[in-house]
Amino acid sequence: QQERAALKDKIRRLLKEKNAVLVSHYYVHPDLQDLAEETGGIVSDSLEMARFGRDHAAQTLVVSGVRFMGETAKILSPEKTILMPDLDANCSLDLGCPVDDFAAFCDQHPDRTVVVYANTSAAVKARSDWLVTSSCALEIVSALKDKGHKILWAPDKHLGGYIQRETGADMLMWQGSCIVHDEFKAFELEALIQQHPGAKVLVHPESPAEVVALADAVGSTSAILNAARTMDAKEFIVATDNGMMHKLRQLNPGKTFIEAPTAGNSATCKSCAHCPWMAMNSLAGVARVLETGLNEIHVDPELIPRARQPIDRMLAFTA
Ligand code: 13P
Ligand code: SF4
Repeated sequence: QQERAALKDKIRRLLKEKNAVLVSHYYVHPDLQDLAEETGGIVSDSLEMARFGRDHAAQTLVVSGVRFMGETAKILSPEKTILMPDLDANCSLDLGCPVDDFAAFCDQHPDRTVVVYANTSAAVKARSDWLVTSSCALEIVSALKDKGHKILWAPDKHLGGYIQRETGADMLMWQGSCIVHDEFKAFELEALIQQHPGAKVLVHPESPAEVVALADAVGSTSAILNAARTMDAKEFIVATDNGMMHKLRQLNPGKTFIEAPTAGNSATCKSCAHCPWMAMNSLAGVARVLETGLNEIHVDPELIPRARQPIDRMLAFTA
């Protein structure tokens, strides 16, 4: 406890000294979420993290999240220094979509508009026409469909499947998945719903279709927060990374949040509703990178203009 308090003090001081701001994702440890807000940074979803980092005056951004979030910040602000507590904090969607294979897939389908999820490398972004996050994917694909586009979608098959079902768009799909959301189980979720008949079910669309089918609200991390705030219920079952529980409980005192069931416990499942890469972020890591300047994110300068285009399109669409 004392050590945590000392680390927080150190980070507060270093953020000021280095003209830096802390940007945290909803899935990281509550300490990093609270500290980001308290020091003038932000805790948010990947879309708002990108926008905030681009618009903030600080010269250094400390991105507490996973690698693609740091890279997106660098692409949007190449002149800024982007630091991350752990450079190995990756994402199964990013790792499962290597650029050479992806480019070959795109080359086979030149008639399709390439829409990629933010959870990808800078090189994959540079090969795309549009970037989306889970909070704007539905609207963007729907608008493209209305203009007659056929879509090549990557990398998350569950999010892609959800959008296809909702919009009816013609989507050719890369077969990636998130190791956290892929673990949610419909059969066990149904049993839990029966035990809590008044509860509303909130599901992130990276979850399998059978789980999404049981949801009262489907959406990104920010959409889940919004649903919890506005829906008329006292109990909620939540199928997303359990890092979200902190904000959900903080913003909704008096409401109860229950984790949706995964395949097993920590001994038997790979992720158990908490992203192992998000978990690499720590107070000690943030203090260390601020102090030393280590763990800077670099993106190939040649890629930046091409990777920026699809991100700018998304930010303009959602402005
Ligand atoms: P959001 O875009 O909703 O923040 O989600 C990012 C992510 O990695 C979900 O697993
Ligand atoms: Fe990637 Fe899933 Fe972790 Fe999000 S929760 S960063 S999609 S592995």
